[in-house]
Order: sequence, then C-alpha cells, then structure tokens
Amino acid sequence: MQNIVLIGFMGCGKSTLARELGRVSGRFVLDSDMLIEQREGISVAEYFARYGEGAFREREREFIDWVESSVHGAIISTGGGMSAHNSVKPMGIVVYLDMAFERICARLSQSDLAKRPLFGDRTKALELFTKRQAIYQAQADITLNAELEIAALVSALDPLL
Ligand code: S3P
Repeated sequence: MQNIVLIGFMGCGKSTLARELGRVSGRFVLDSDMLIEQREGISVAEYFARYGEGAFREREREFIDWVESSVHGAIISTGGGMSAHNSVKPMGIVVYLDMAFERICARLSQSDLAKRPLFGDRTKALELFTKRQAIYQAQADITLNAELEIAALVSALDPLL
C-alpha cells in the first residue's frame, strides 16, 4: 500500500489533515519534523540555531530514504522545505496543499511563528513562498485547495485511503 505524502508551505495545515486522514483511515501518521526532533532530542528551531539549515536538510534527506525503504501505507506530513530541497516522490503519492500566503499568515499565531526559523520575517517568508510554489506543483500528483473545509479535503482523498 502506497504512502500518502502531504506537502506545502509552513502553516497550510499538513499536520492537521494528516491526523484527520489517520483517524478516518486507521493508517499510521508520521510527521517528519516531529520524528527529526525526537531523534535529535531538540526542537527544529534549536536544530537550525545549532547546526544550520544545511544540516537540517540532510536529516530530511535521511527521513525520505528511510520512508522509501521501510514505510508502507502511512500518512506522511512533511516539513514545508523538504519537498523544496529534495524529491519526495519516492515516498509515495504526493498531495500538495495549496493555500494563499495571506491566509497562511492569518492562521499562524506568535507561538507558531516562533517554532519556524524561516518564518521570522514576513517579507522573506513571502519570497520563499513565491519561489517554492512552482516546485510544490512540480512534485505533486494531486493539488488540493487547502482553504476548503477539512471534511472536503478528506473526501477528496478518500479514493486513496
Ligand atoms: C520549514 C518548515 C517547517 C520546518 C522547518 C523548515 C521550511 O515545517 O520543517 O522550520 O523550510 O518551510 P512546517 O511546514 O511544518 O512548518
């Protein structure tokens, strides 16, 4: 059974949708940021501060290799930069959650922003968003409008579950 891999910009709702898909399908849910945090023993923000973005991308690369070789039938929520720096296609069916930048900003609280080192500055985050949109699109097997209700997103993915 193929994995379902959720990609998209920070704050577009990947983790929330992954949990809901896991709940309705009974499949296990993996969150790349959470697994990297657990393995390294520090938060993503702390990891960036200590070792830099390049090292974090290497940890993400290891996650992709592990999923490709060892994980089947899971729902996988990826960090927003994973699919911008590496091909995520080997992990499974790739679903891009597309959401407007303004909407993302409105959803993220101060504590959500503090957890995300690449969202410190809104202008820089918008540049990153603009640069990544075509990359997300190119990696996606399916693109969903992430502004829809979660129930609509789940039913759009129902044929894959
Ligand atoms: C990042 C997104 C974050 C996290 C890290 C870098 C990015 O995950 O992996 O802060 O480069 O877009 P979320 O998409 O879950 O915020």
